[in-house]
Amino acid sequence: MLKSTIDKATGFEKRFENINTKVFEDSQAASKAIAKEIAKLIKVKQSQKQPCVLGLATGSSPKGLYAELVRLHKEEGLSFKNVVTFNLDEYYPMEPDSVNSYVRFMKTLLFDQVDILPENCHIPDGKLAKADIADYCSRYESKIEVLGGIDLQILGIGGNGHIGFNESGSLQNSKTRLVALDHITRVAASKDFAGLSNTPKTAITLGVKKIMEAKRVILMAWGEAKSAIIRASVEGQVTNQVPASFLQEHNNATFVLDKGAASKLTRINTPWLVEKVTWTDKLIRKAVTGLALHLKKPILMLTEADYIENGMSDLLADYGNGYDINIKIFNDLQHTITGWPGGKPNADDTKRPERAEPAKKRVLIFSPHPDDDIISMGGTFKRLHEQGHDVHVGYQTSGNIAVADEEALRFANFVIDYNEKFGINSDATGKIYTKMVKALREKKPSEIDIPETRYIKGLIRKGEARATSHFVGLTDKQIHFMEMPFYETGTIDKKPLGEEDIQLTISLIESIKPHQIYAAGDLADPHGTHKVCLDAVFEAVKRLKDKPFMKDCRVWLYRGAWQEWNVDEIEMAVPMSPEQVLEKRHGIFKHQSQKDGVVFQGADSREFWQRAEDRNKETADTYDQLGLSHYAAMEAFVRWHF
Ligand code: F6R
Repeated sequence: MLKSTIDKATGFEKRFENINTKVFEDSQAASKAIAKEIAKLIKVKQSQKQPCVLGLATGSSPKGLYAELVRLHKEEGLSFKNVVTFNLDEYYPMEPDSVNSYVRFMKTLLFDQVDILPENCHIPDGKLAKADIADYCSRYESKIEVLGGIDLQILGIGGNGHIGFNESGSLQNSKTRLVALDHITRVAASKDFAGLSNTPKTAITLGVKKIMEAKRVILMAWGEAKSAIIRASVEGQVTNQVPASFLQEHNNATFVLDKGAASKLTRINTPWLVEKVTWTDKLIRKAVTGLALHLKKPILMLTEADYIENGMSDLLADYGNGYDINIKIFNDLQHTITGWPGGKPNADDTKRPERAEPAKKRVLIFSPHPDDDIISMGGTFKRLHEQGHDVHVGYQTSGNIAVADEEALRFANFVIDYNEKFGINSDATGKIYTKMVKALREKKPSEIDIPETRYIKGLIRKGEARATSHFVGLTDKQIHFMEMPFYETGTIDKKPLGEEDIQLTISLIESIKPHQIYAAGDLADPHGTHKVCLDAVFEAVKRLKDKPFMKDCRVWLYRGAWQEWNVDEIEMAVPMSPEQVLEKRHGIFKHQSQKDGVVFQGADSREFWQRAEDRNKETADTYDQLGLSHYAAMEAFVRWHF
């Protein structure tokens, strides 16, 4: 086990991993590997005629694991008859048959689909009287002890480092108990409970002590959003502020990660600080920009001593001198900046991100939700139109679940008044309105809306998207509402990508035959919608790639509302003037249903236009800090090669 060290000479933190970590290409491959280990353990225990005691987690992380265990049962005959499970936690209070209960979660995703005996499944009881909880918790622990402890504990990790619901501040010897949930945990859960005010404030959780006593612990984490807390847990100090860091003291714990969750680990983020690396162009750019930002120096001011003192002396040796490296990276970055995202006509384009020809391009922007186009690439969108390209937008989903009930009622009311005023028979509209009011009044948190309400909510967002596109200058012919079916569940949980979604995407691309496709490459979207929308585009492009028009098509990825590309990844940076920033803001304002307190606020209290402005300014500031031109804002893109 490597210990953390800090390189005193450089001030660079040289931290290494204090927990065994395994990094997989994606969460699917990782989940399969964990399922394989569990299956092996179950079989060993079967052959020894012993129970196999599993500690189980809920949340988004283990869903793929449970799906794979179910597959192993159904297709490969894995039996769960000798398995006894103890779930980590349950919200309190919570009815077991409520849509949000962990009992329901486990039954749906695992227990009801395998041959586990119901009496072997244990989940903390969310409907106990408060006075009975303490006793219940100690009996929960005794049941585990009688069976000889947990053989294998599965964990997820919260944004604050919680394991189970042992929030920051939990002690290493804490017992199973009733706990208050952290604000950040409640914010993360609020998407399932239709808002923070409906989200439980307390839960019953297995204590850290029992988790630490498990013979084997596997913590799983997916996506970049988890990368900072993974690094803190694996490489930081052991502290009760980050309960997952306690696992540094467990002798058989492994963190199983996908590339995103592992991306901030030293060996992945700055591998040259850990071992000898092969210096690829990408890695050089990452290292040099990282060094310049760390030392707060423009790239052209980096000295050879800076390289040597920061673990990059072999790179220096390859190049012969620091100046050549500086110039190379400076030029690379300089060439990413362009005010001509569709290519500059009649200009030498050898060093530009886009081709000059054809001078007038057909452009297709895919917007997962109705506002992603303007939020994430509003400046580029407008510029492409103004520079004479034929710009189309494909609004991939209706985005209807993010509209508040009052908004839907307000619009339904408007139609009644409108009909009355203009003498249109309003019987039918009145009936819809009454039906909606009744359904909304009776709707329990997290219950889905009736189709009429969902449709009206979708119409509201459609109108807003149209308003934005008109504001940019597009005509109706250039606006395409795709209403991809995977999205239309009425809940946060979406269906997986289906053939119909792919076909819709293919036919839109084929009808436009674009020279440029823009898509949201935002994999950190907490609801997963962007990922499915991106997968649809990738799949459609792959299937179309042999068509002649695709030879002349480039795919550019912008990031969605939640995140931005790192400067070392950016391949096209489109600068904006202060006036263009303001214009973009007004374009975002067209999405009135997403302003002034939105349904899915997330942990970030800023409105979407503020997030967009901060992020575009941050990119521009980073270029400035690196010694390039100083702009008010910049939108960033990465090219996807197919
Ligand atoms: C769930 C649990 C929690 C989650 C954690 C991560 O039983 O105990 O610790 O594992 O909040 O949740 P996801 O996986 O949804 O990111």
